Amino acid sequence: MEIELRPLRHSDSESLAVYFQQLSEKTRSRFAPHPFDEATAQFICEHLSLPQIIIIAAYPPGTIVGYTILQEGWMPGDKERYYQYGVPVNGSGIWSMAPSVADSWQGKGIGPAMFQYALKYLQWFEAEKLVLWGGVQSDNIPAVKFYQHLGFEPKGSFYYNGKENMDMILSLKYNHYL
Ligand SMILES: CC(C)(COP(=O)(O)OP(=O)(O)OC[C@H]1O[C@@H](n2cnc3c(N)ncnc32)[C@H](O)[C@@H]1OP(=O)(O)O)[C@@H](O)C(=O)NCCC(=O)NCCS
Repeated sequence: MEIELRPLRHSDSESLAVYFQQLSEKTRSRFAPHPFDEATAQFICEHLSLPQIIIIAAYPPGTIVGYTILQEGWMPGDKERYYQYGVPVNGSGIWSMAPSVADSWQGKGIGPAMFQYALKYLQWFEAEKLVLWGGVQSDNIPAVKFYQHLGFEPKGSFYYNGKENMDMILSLKYNHYL
């Protein structure tokens, strides 16, 4: 059966709640843009609107196996760090990304597939740079490899909750991917 890539819909609330509930503690500790409860899943599905785009990978009949948030602009804290690294932060065209894949589906190419799909939206909105929302934990080797394969470059590092994190950014060149 084929994995379907598509934007999240209002009607995905229950499937998204199940997806959040099934994420292991390890994955949650790596990916934490918001809480993982039913109320959050419902809120997200009820408030789908730009400048946020949520892409999901779904395994029919409706099991979510991957979830990627794309948000226009900088997330709180990220902009200040990039400014310190000397990256111009005041222009337009910046988007932030936070991807996740269900534990038993990790390492099977779902993350890269969601990224390829996300590019269509990023191109449509004329995104020029993509940054990792909150960086990536330096010891999260699968994620660091995933970002490196996509062409993300490290810009600096910082400590959060006693862990080293890396800030990585990608200059989007659409004809390179599409
Ligand atoms: C990071 C993530 C989104 C990548 O998506 P993915 O679909 O697993 O991506 P890939 O299939 O390309 O795997 C990436 C690399 O990590 C490896 N990998 C991924 N998950 C793995 C696992 N659980 N165990 C061992 N290796 C793993 C893959 O083999 C691949 O390496 P390779 O290119 O050398 O073969 C996904 O692994 C994930 O959700 N991880 C937990 C949450 C997280 O870390 N989010 C990112 C926060 S910054």
